[in-house]
Amino acid sequence: MTAPLIDPFQRAITYLRLSVTDRCDFRCVYCMSENMQFLPKKELLTLEELDRMCTAFIRLGVEKLRITGGEPLVRRGIMSFFEGMGRHLESGALKELTLTTNGSQLEKYAADLYAAGVRRVNISLDTLDEKKFAEVTRWGRLPQVLRGVEAALKAGLRVKINAVALKGFNEDELFDLAAWCADLGMDLTFIEVMPMGDIGNENRIGQYWSLNDLRATLAEQFTLTDLSDRTGGPARYMRLEETGQRIGLITPLSHNFCESCNRVRITCTGEIYTCLGQEGKSDLRAPLRASEGDAPLEEAIRAAIGLKPKGHDFDYSRQELGGQMSRHMSHTGG
Ligand code: GTP
Ligand code: 5AD
Ligand code: SF4
Repeated sequence: MTAPLIDPFQRAITYLRLSVTDRCDFRCVYCMSENMQFLPKKELLTLEELDRMCTAFIRLGVEKLRITGGEPLVRRGIMSFFEGMGRHLESGALKELTLTTNGSQLEKYAADLYAAGVRRVNISLDTLDEKKFAEVTRWGRLPQVLRGVEAALKAGLRVKINAVALKGFNEDELFDLAAWCADLGMDLTFIEVMPMGDIGNENRIGQYWSLNDLRATLAEQFTLTDLSDRTGGPARYMRLEETGQRIGLITPLSHNFCESCNRVRITCTGEIYTCLGQEGKSDLRAPLRASEGDAPLEEAIRAAIGLKPKGHDFDYSRQELGGQMSRHMSHTGG
């Protein structure tokens, strides 16, 4: 039996987030600058290499695989990669194959994703107002994403909407977003904005909307019950008793969840980041390419996980950006 991946703090690593491209067809203001420079395509792992990488992690005990980007569905040929991963679902080694997407390409791909074995997608959407949507995504158009959401539901995918909580931007839409998701039977998760990427966005602290406050606002109109069930991700869920809806909170700032971390991230060039909020990384591309067998790769994976830090240092409490990272969120897919 292969020994499971355990980090220095006795956390078992069972969740892999794989970024398949750093490119995106949107330019969300909290994520990228407008003139973002992308990697030359020749730097990227090939689709075959992405498959080998995931297969190695699955052999080492990863049960949940989330494909991210940039926007994962803009990578050419990516559906064949999803189809290939289906074999690990069939064998039972992989329990969940899923993705986080901006929704722009779902109209085209939702049915194929379902056919490949995907059952759940997380779609990023911060506002239901067309003008505000264009403002926050710069290049995105809301109707296209709404058609994507509709296509996903029609294909039978469970949808979770991810909204980055931004003070003065979508605070006033809390109840509208909740009602829209409840109507369509979708979970909704709010995320505290993290200080990632040098994107001339000095106003991070001004934008920070603590999810403690968001919860208190919700509690003015709903009876909230905390739920213990998790999706294997960082969100903590509550149920709104009056509607039965589930709302999740991802609170790296107000309530650190590093203690229960079960995940690592791979970039599209084959680097492993063992913590979203730290710069430490190791290269897996060289060991992957070093041999047709996977022994060097597996050894490099174990060595990298042996360096996983205890947690991030994000902190706005002193009214400055504690733990700020120059790396963009799109580099590791969140
Ligand atoms: P589920 O499987 O639905 O639980 O998804 P998930 O929350 O694991 O993934 P998703 O891609 O939807 O991530 C939502 C947000 O959580 C993103 O903004 C991520 O950056 C953030 N997130 C995910 N994992 C971590 C983590 O380990 N640390 C921090 N600080 N944020 C994380
Ligand atoms: N802080 C919090 N969440 C972010 N995302 C992108 N940048 C940030 C940030 N700085 C979110 C996206 C997507 C998820 C993968 O990460 O909106 O939902
Ligand atoms: Fe894990 Fe790092 Fe995320 Fe904390 S910030 S939960 S240690 S990946």
